[in-house]
Amino acid sequence: MEDSELIKIADKAKENSYSPYSGFKVGACVLTEKGNVFTGCNVENISFGASICAERTAILKAVSEGEKNFKKIAVMSSGKNFTYPCGICIQVLFEFMPEGELIVSNNDGKIEKYKIKDLMPYQFNEKLKKY
Ligand code: THU
Repeated sequence: MEDSELIKIADKAKENSYSPYSGFKVGACVLTEKGNVFTGCNVENISFGASICAERTAILKAVSEGEKNFKKIAVMSSGKNFTYPCGICIQVLFEFMPEGELIVSNNDGKIEKYKIKDLMPYQFNEKLKKY
């Protein structure tokens, strides 16, 4: 699937954002190894700390539907500039798509692309997996 198409889907996903506290809408879209697409938006909470970002919403939706390997994630927001995932989201992305790519776009329609592993070169990465 084309990067521009994933950007469009992420942009649409942001419209479901529940963000009454920040007013900042974010949408994300992950492309799985199997070729399926899952979307997510940020969902805020009055306790603030219970809020979840769009990226993790998309990843958790996909994992809970049985997909654990992702190729690409696109992120869009209501802001003018490129929206990059927060540190917690990058660590979660690294778990499921260490060889994957991030695609972001700004208001002018310019697209940027990054390798997930380049976003956090010293991520926590001990050999803890048991199964
Ligand atoms: N947010 C995301 O959903 N993804 C990001 O990449 C950055 C921040 C959300 C969290 C919060 O709901 C709002 O944007 C403002 O920080």
